[in-house]
Amino acid sequence: MSNIQILVGSTLGGTEYVAEAIQPLIEEAGFDSEIQFEPDLNSLSLQSEQVWLICLSTHGAGDYPDNFKPFVEQLQQVNAAISDVKYGIIGIGDSSYDTFCEAAKNIDYLLEEMAAVRVGDRLEVDVMDYPTPEDRVLDWIPSWIEDLTQIVEN
Ligand SMILES: Cc1cc2nc3c(=O)[nH]c(=O)nc-3n(C[C@H](O)[C@H](O)[C@H](O)COP(=O)(O)O)c2cc1C
Repeated sequence: MSNIQILVGSTLGGTEYVAEAIQPLIEEAGFDSEIQFEPDLNSLSLQSEQVWLICLSTHGAGDYPDNFKPFVEQLQQVNAAISDVKYGIIGIGDSSYDTFCEAAKNIDYLLEEMAAVRVGDRLEVDVMDYPTPEDRVLDWIPSWIEDLTQIVEN
């Protein structure tokens, strides 16, 4: 059974709660998982099949949170396709910014360019609608797990 690496990018800590809220559902579905609060590409193999679930808020004017920037820089230095990586994206943002969930969009585009395979649709949670973003994410995660299970089984 696949191991899911839950990679967190957060400035104020809210997205860390999202990661912690979804982990039990992932484990109940039979997947092992680890939460990485300081994602580091060196601790993730690019050569073997693996699944990343990225939980990422947006800060500044469409920027990545500081704790996530080194990971993005590491990815940008990889000069190869990473087609063994499957990933899901949960973006947390605020629609009062023009750059709503821009970090989540940008990491999605980067991974797509690198030939990683996205599982399910990118989720964008607006904290204007969901002041506790876990509420929305917990509704969405079962369908993502279903999508992943189908891919892993095939
Ligand atoms: C200074 C600041 C800048 C922000 N910039 C954006 C932005 O450009 N786009 C967006 O969608 N949300 C933006 N947000 C909203 C945050 O993404 C949102 O509050 C999120 O819940 C923060 O998650 P975190 O607690 O994990 O950092 C910003 C929030 C702050 C405080």
